[in-house]
Amino acid sequence: MSAVLSTPWSASLGLATPIVSAPMGGVAGGRFASAVSRAGALGMIGMGSAGSAAKLAAQLAEFERDRARHGRVGEPCGVGLVHWGIERDPALLDVAIGAGPSLISVSFAERFEWVDRVHAAGSLAATQVATAAEALTAADAGVDVIVARGSDGGGHGDPRIGTLALLDAVLDVIDARAPVLAAGGIGSGRSLAAVLAAGAAGAWIGTALSASTETLTPPAAIEVLLAATGDDTVTTCALDAALGLPWPERFPERVIRNDLVDTWQGRVEELRTATAASDGTDLVALRAAIFAANRDGDHALVPVDAGQGVGLLRESRPVAEVLDEFTRAAAALLGRPPGA
Ligand SMILES: Cc1cc2nc3c(=O)[nH]c(=O)nc-3n(C[C@H](O)[C@H](O)[C@H](O)COP(=O)(O)O)c2cc1C
Repeated sequence: MSAVLSTPWSASLGLATPIVSAPMGGVAGGRFASAVSRAGALGMIGMGSAGSAAKLAAQLAEFERDRARHGRVGEPCGVGLVHWGIERDPALLDVAIGAGPSLISVSFAERFEWVDRVHAAGSLAATQVATAAEALTAADAGVDVIVARGSDGGGHGDPRIGTLALLDAVLDVIDARAPVLAAGGIGSGRSLAAVLAAGAAGAWIGTALSASTETLTPPAAIEVLLAATGDDTVTTCALDAALGLPWPERFPERVIRNDLVDTWQGRVEELRTATAASDGTDLVALRAAIFAANRDGDHALVPVDAGQGVGLLRESRPVAEVLDEFTRAAAALLGRPPGA
C-alpha cells in the first residue's frame, strides 16, 4: 500500500495508512494485529473484561509467530487494555510493557499512573476519551495519543457525543498538543476521509475490521455482524450486569440488539441485584444460561459488540483487503491519487 493518506503522525511511525485497529477484547488477537501491521496500519492486541496476563502473553506469542511466518520484523504494533482491568490484574500492564510495543493504550482511564511506566519502556501512551475535558486531562497527564471515541462506536465506551462533534471539540482544545485519532462508526473510506479532512491524525477502527478472517471472532458472531444494519445497535449494561462484570455504569457497550437486550434494557438494576425478577424470571437460572451462551456463542442471549457503522460490514475478508479499500477510497475523496 503506498502512503497516499499519510499524516505527520502516521508518517512518524512509518505507517502506510493512518489507521489503528481498535483493541477489541475477544476479537483482536495476535494474528489479527500482525495482519493489520503487515498491511501498513497499526495493529493492536486487545484485552477486555475477559482478559488476563496469561491470555495477553499467549496473543503476543501468536503475534510473534505470525510475524516470523511472514518473515517480518519491527512493524509498529500496540496493546490495548482497560483501566479497571489493570487495576484488577496489574500483571496485564507488566506483560504489555515487557513486550515493548510501539503503543500502549489504557482506555476508560480516570487515573494516569500508568503513563510514566509506558514512557519508561519506550512506548507511546494512548487513551480513549469521550469529552473535550477528558482529552485535556489526558494531555496534561502526558498521554501521547488521544483517541476521540464518539458515541457511535462499538463495544464499551461513554456514549455522550457523536464522533464528528467530539473530534471537532477535542481538536479545538488540544490545539496540536498531541495527535488526535477519531473513533466510532468509521465504516468506509468516506468516513475515514471525513475525519482526516477534519484534522484527525488517524482513525481508530473497530467494527469495520471485526469480521475479518484473521480475528478471533467466532463464525456465529460474524453471521450476526454481517446481517445487522446500523439502526440495530443500542448501548446497554445488560450483559455486564448479568455476568457481574465490574464495568462502571458510565461505560455501557454498544451492541447489536437481541432478545436479552430487548427484554432487560429498562430493568438492568434487577439483573444486577435480584435473584428473582419482578416478572418472576429466575435470575440464577438466567445467569447460568448466559454464562453457557457466552461459552457456546449463542447470540440470542449474548449480544455482539458493534458500532453504528456495522451496516456497511457485508463480508468477512482479510484485513489487508479492507484497509486497502478504505485507504484508496479515502485518498480518492481527498484528491490524493495513488502514487501522490
Ligand atoms: C468487538 C469490540 C470489542 C471491543 N473491545 C474493546 C477493548 O477490549 N478495549 C477497548 O479499549 N476498547 C474496546 N472496544 C472499543 C474500541 O476500542 C473502539 O472504541 C470502537 O471499536 C470504535 O468504534 P467502531 O467499532 O464503530 O469502529 C471494542 C469494540 C468492539 C467493536
